[in-house]
Amino acid sequence: MRVLTLGINGLLGSNVVTSALDQNHEVFGTYHTTVPSFDISMQQLDVTETDRVSEVVRSVDPDWVINCAAMTDVDGCERAPDRASEINAQPMEALSEACSNSSARLLHVSTDYVFGGGQTGPYDELATPDPRQVYGRSKLAGEQIVRKQAQDPLIARLSFVYGIHRHSKSLAGFPAWLMSALDENESVSLYTDQYVSPTRASQAASTFMELIDEGLSGVFHVACRSCVTPYEFGRKFCKQMSDDPAQMQQGSLDDSTNIATRPKNTCLDVGRVEEKLGREQPTLMSDIDNLVRELDE
Ligand SMILES: NC(=O)c1ccc[n+]([C@@H]2O[C@H](COP(=O)([O-])OP(=O)(O)OC[C@H]3O[C@@H](n4cnc5c(N)ncnc54)[C@H](OP(=O)(O)O)[C@@H]3O)[C@@H](O)[C@H]2O)c1
Repeated sequence: MRVLTLGINGLLGSNVVTSALDQNHEVFGTYHTTVPSFDISMQQLDVTETDRVSEVVRSVDPDWVINCAAMTDVDGCERAPDRASEINAQPMEALSEACSNSSARLLHVSTDYVFGGGQTGPYDELATPDPRQVYGRSKLAGEQIVRKQAQDPLIARLSFVYGIHRHSKSLAGFPAWLMSALDENESVSLYTDQYVSPTRASQAASTFMELIDEGLSGVFHVACRSCVTPYEFGRKFCKQMSDDPAQMQQGSLDDSTNIATRPKNTCLDVGRVEEKLGREQPTLMSDIDNLVRELDE
């Protein structure tokens, strides 16, 4: 299949390119500010230039478009709400239309932050979104446009994405931040009252390949099957890396100085993706084991 990925220099996009190549798809990609070193056909694209979005899709004529391009800085979105909407929501109109015109299917990536966080237990795909910050609202608006205007779209909601960036080959996301703080002998405060289902980027990317191979549509939660606090995630990761977790302090969301509200619980129920693909999603521990293996490769 011809697979076009938008945002290939991001953590997730770089893993999607790698997974699509592993599956022997014909792989195309767009980058925004930095040219990655992938040996694939690439074009520069700013998704806010909607004419270019249509032009790129038309020129590649893909079977699938996987949209990993987004403004992901949650506090940055709060500071620049118009920009968040211009990147995370408005281009979905042109993208959906361009996909329909080229008979391409669209897999659009979204977030657990569409949920409000007040629920007890994991959110499934039927739960009602209720975003509490600009980022979540802009991503939900993007989902809504895609659902309304694209033909049989797939929407994959992820949570707390981490892993190896396939262009820079370096660790990215929460474990990278944690290791660098510990290496600097900084004391880190990790929340014990926020619950998430961390998504390992390469696991999500290979799950996307399974979803598109099956030709599925609709909303899917793609994350690990564990529901943990950042403090638990940090401890498990350090244990596996044989790092001393002594500098890790227990913190609370209530003491956070972040500009944007963080929801208390956005754990994702992954039952649907497991049922449709006939296999289980990994636990956090097995994802961390795999990450450590990837780091050693
Ligand atoms: N990170 C998380 O914890 C998390 C959690 C849940 C869901 N998600 C979702 O997962 C997806 C991928 O996120 P990620 O973690 O891979 O984030 P990322 O590493 O920040 O990647 C985002 C990519 O989007 C590109 N981009 C930004 N503005 C653009 C624009 N105007 N036009 C075109 N491309 C643009 C960036 O390119 P430049 O850097 O060159 O601007 C970057 O390559 C997003 O949809 C995000 O909402 C992420």
